[in-house]
Amino acid sequence: MNRIPVILDGDPGHDDAIAWMLAAVSPLLEIRAVTSVCGNQTIEKTTYNAMRICTLLGITCPIAMGKPAPLMAPPMNAPSVHGQSGLDGPKLPEPAMELCELRSVELMAQVLRESETPVTIVATGPQTNVAALLLAHPELKPKIRQISFMGGGIAHGNWTPAAEFNILVDPEAADIVMRSGIPLIMSGLDVTEKALIYPADFERVRAVGNEVARVVADWLEFFYEFHRRLGYPGAPLHDPVAVVSLIRPDLLISKDLCVEVETKGEYCRGATIGHDRAPANARVNLGIDRDGFAALLVEAVAAFGEEKR
Ligand code: RIB
Ligand code: CA
Repeated sequence: MNRIPVILDGDPGHDDAIAWMLAAVSPLLEIRAVTSVCGNQTIEKTTYNAMRICTLLGITCPIAMGKPAPLMAPPMNAPSVHGQSGLDGPKLPEPAMELCELRSVELMAQVLRESETPVTIVATGPQTNVAALLLAHPELKPKIRQISFMGGGIAHGNWTPAAEFNILVDPEAADIVMRSGIPLIMSGLDVTEKALIYPADFERVRAVGNEVARVVADWLEFFYEFHRRLGYPGAPLHDPVAVVSLIRPDLLISKDLCVEVETKGEYCRGATIGHDRAPANARVNLGIDRDGFAALLVEAVAAFGEEKR
């Protein structure tokens, strides 16, 4: 069976890490590159986290450091959610690999050029690298099959009332991606805040008993803490939905919409507006089978044996 070639671009980040775990064990996907982006933490920290996550999960593709700041805005981090390291909580192995000598945009371009078939980009952080790729290499757009991204929300935000964090960090980048004409799958807060993983699910994951299961359960516990204080009954697992969109679309309810990004606005910068008054540019996920998603997580960690390092 031909696997879907993917590039994972993210700002790990606990939920990025869990998204990458789902991708790593899926028989449907082939991870060709991992690229870090500045978002939850500085580019140095998200890059170090990306290398540690790939070491833990046994992901052996090239890993490249992304751009140090958004296209135009100053960097914005989220230590309140992910901690000072960007991936606080369980101890992780030190990187078993060297960083690719290429930076993110050039590694992405190399993967696209060398791939026999168009490649899917899974973007789970601000879309700085993806937009920079489209600006620097417009000739490679036909080699991008689709972009499945976590970001936005057509009904509300989370970092401001209007804007979700990934889009708010780099609205100019998101605007370039939304206008690119490349097939888009949007997993915004509309669906990701329904992708709730409850404390009882953390224990189902932990009970699988291998090293990855223990780390993922610890990531879930840490990630939930910020949300518990806000009154959430579970951890809203944002980023994994961008991978679920590719491997288990049957778990999702979606609608094709025209999504536009507010790049100006004193109060609404970074808002994503979804409507049907223009041709659709994105498949927007709006609902998820939560129980099926939780079962998928437990199934995924069980695919790792004790030997996985
Ligand atoms: O708003 C949620 C998004 O912001 C997720 O991608 C999380 O990792 C943070 O980057
Ligand atoms: Ca993220």
